[in-house]
Amino acid sequence: MSLRFDPDKYEVRTMEDGGKAVTYRAFEKLIYVERPIDATLQSINIYVPERYYQGEEINGYTLQTAPILFGNNVGGFFPSEPRTPEHEMFGHTSTTFYALIYGYVVATPGARGRTNQAEDGFFYGKGQAGIVDLKAALRYLWYNADVIPGDINHIISNGTSAGGGLSALLGFYDNAADYEPYLKALGAAEAKAEVFAASCYCPVTDLEHADLAYEWQFAGLPDFHRMHMKMGEGGRPQFSAVDGIMTEKRVSLSNELASLFPTYLNSLGLIGPNGDVLTLDENGDGSFKDYILGLLTASAQGALERGEDVTLPGIQVEGDRVISVDFAAYMKGITRMKEAPPFDDVTMLNFENNLFGDERHDNAHFTAFSFERSEHAEPLMASADVIRMMNPLNYMKDRGKLTQHWRFRQGTDDRDIGFATPAILALTLKKLGLDVDYALTWGEKHGGDFDVPDLFEWIDSLCKG
Ligand code: DHB
Repeated sequence: MSLRFDPDKYEVRTMEDGGKAVTYRAFEKLIYVERPIDATLQSINIYVPERYYQGEEINGYTLQTAPILFGNNVGGFFPSEPRTPEHEMFGHTSTTFYALIYGYVVATPGARGRTNQAEDGFFYGKGQAGIVDLKAALRYLWYNADVIPGDINHIISNGTSAGGGLSALLGFYDNAADYEPYLKALGAAEAKAEVFAASCYCPVTDLEHADLAYEWQFAGLPDFHRMHMKMGEGGRPQFSAVDGIMTEKRVSLSNELASLFPTYLNSLGLIGPNGDVLTLDENGDGSFKDYILGLLTASAQGALERGEDVTLPGIQVEGDRVISVDFAAYMKGITRMKEAPPFDDVTMLNFENNLFGDERHDNAHFTAFSFERSEHAEPLMASADVIRMMNPLNYMKDRGKLTQHWRFRQGTDDRDIGFATPAILALTLKKLGLDVDYALTWGEKHGGDFDVPDLFEWIDSLCKG
């Protein structure tokens, strides 16, 4: 199968929404590997504003200089098909649509995911499969650099949640050795997989330590408040609340996990805004906690200045200033969503356990902590290689092989992951001297693309430099 991009094979379409319209060329279902296992998923759609082909400029860009927004569609580590501009996420108009109006080229890849199962029963989307596919899709773009619309040197990766974690992994573009055998097996194009910048919303990442980070925040809160999602009519998700209290056993696991966090955090030697090393004492108090509280305070202050209501438990306001945020009261207010352990569960049945299964096993543990305490009839530990390949923190050694520009956003109401998880990644990148734009977005839950105009402004500031 040829991996050459054909610039003459497209459809022209127009989409309207909210009083805006864009006419674009759609290059769709481009299979990005020579030997696909699932051609529907291992394909990419590319969209280009039609006006570029009439020689026009949009937002100061041309067909040759437009940034390429490489937005993955992964959520929950599920399989994901390439997105179209018409695609709606939870009733919101797609970022692809706005990106086209704004003059970007949009490349939206599909990727395998944890629930993919072949007829013979083998799972083919576990572990590294999703990130391998996204890297293969990038290699396809680079392989076709001479004919791909837009500026190949300005690819911006974007993703949310599980897809945010994968977007972070794409920022480590030259750690090829680990992924290479998998890319080779698929017949990925022989080219680099470089991105210019990485945007990550609420990234689910550093899964080896995500339980610790979460429990540092929520230990002491035994009641959990989950939303159960079901697909309703017309593919619209329907949510119903599931509330409960953790068993004594889980409360004890929560406390144990929380007590392990300071040692992990202190081992990282992260540097705060004032140049001080951020630490925690054995009770989980210290400058790292103050740093997180500072992020929450800054976010609340911004909201207050925009005239938004910031009266939440733990937030102390005096006049036009947010004076302080009380950690325990704030976390109690936003509530725990997941029971302990929130990621590598002792039942071995969480999303992430399902991610770390392998060809023959649907689920596996990925931390020694939960493996040793497993309540599953046949506990299984994922391979160390696969665990390593899913965590960008394992690829920090060579600064020259990292994307230079990073943007992280997490909602202040996010209870799917701890605040410490994106913070650790952002601060680690900062410590390496990279350009990191990181903040908490007031009032947003676990989700993404909630500040598209700001995201685009960030991309413009980098690309128009
Ligand atoms: C996602 C959400 C989760 O709570 C989780 O554990 C993993 C992934 C997601 O939305 O992608």
